[in-house]
Amino acid sequence: MKKKLIAGNWKMNGSLAANEALVKGLLAGLGSPACQVALCVPSVYLAQCQALVAGSAIGLGAQDLSQHEAGAFTGEISGAMLQEFSVRYCIVGHSERRQYHFETDALVAAKVQRALACGITPIVCVGETLAEREAGKTEEVVKRQLAAVIHVNGHCISEVVVAYEPVWAIGTGKTASTEQAQQVHALLRQQLQAASNQADRIQIIYGGSMNAANAAQLLAQPDIDGGLVGGAALKVSDFLSIIASAC
Ligand code: 13P
Repeated sequence: MKKKLIAGNWKMNGSLAANEALVKGLLAGLGSPACQVALCVPSVYLAQCQALVAGSAIGLGAQDLSQHEAGAFTGEISGAMLQEFSVRYCIVGHSERRQYHFETDALVAAKVQRALACGITPIVCVGETLAEREAGKTEEVVKRQLAAVIHVNGHCISEVVVAYEPVWAIGTGKTASTEQAQQVHALLRQQLQAASNQADRIQIIYGGSMNAANAAQLLAQPDIDGGLVGGAALKVSDFLSIIASAC
């Protein structure tokens, strides 16, 4: 059976001291989880976190990568560089990158391709804004975002993780209701099924104010295969509690 995946997205948070305390706290309480666990950390902390999670059940993740292989791209980080630090996952197309760094659907699709070429599992984020939801455009938006990724990566689409992150639920304390989330996840799975015929093995995870109190209910939905957790991933007890709900 497909395992659930709980991935923490630290975003631009952390320090050497705070990271060490957080990861050591997680490892002390984790045991041998029946689900997959990942931490997507700022790139400057990859080496530190690689050492901290070595030999444990925690998979290391990054938050972005370049669509290019190498060269004159100041400030960018390549998939091959991430590979050198045992990175297993990379978030691609997070709404904060789409919004603040003007990442387009086509760019996100190219980044997914780079990650896959480097043996890294992309966690591809899709999700609508509040205005789009209120205009009844949720389905159209998430399908368009995923279609771009399928168009470029169709032959290996079963290797990606898809994260549904309604933009209005991120960092706001407003979680999508279980019905709202399940409905979109089911739509995305249909779209993946039409593209790959293997949608059952693709993890579709939910992100947006997932916390210790609401995780169990969300994770009980038939098409919710895990969580991409922001704020609650920065607290040992909250993140462990979400992991326990998934296992
Ligand atoms: P929050 O859990 O803080 O809402 O963030 C969700 C998110 O953006 C994860 O990628």
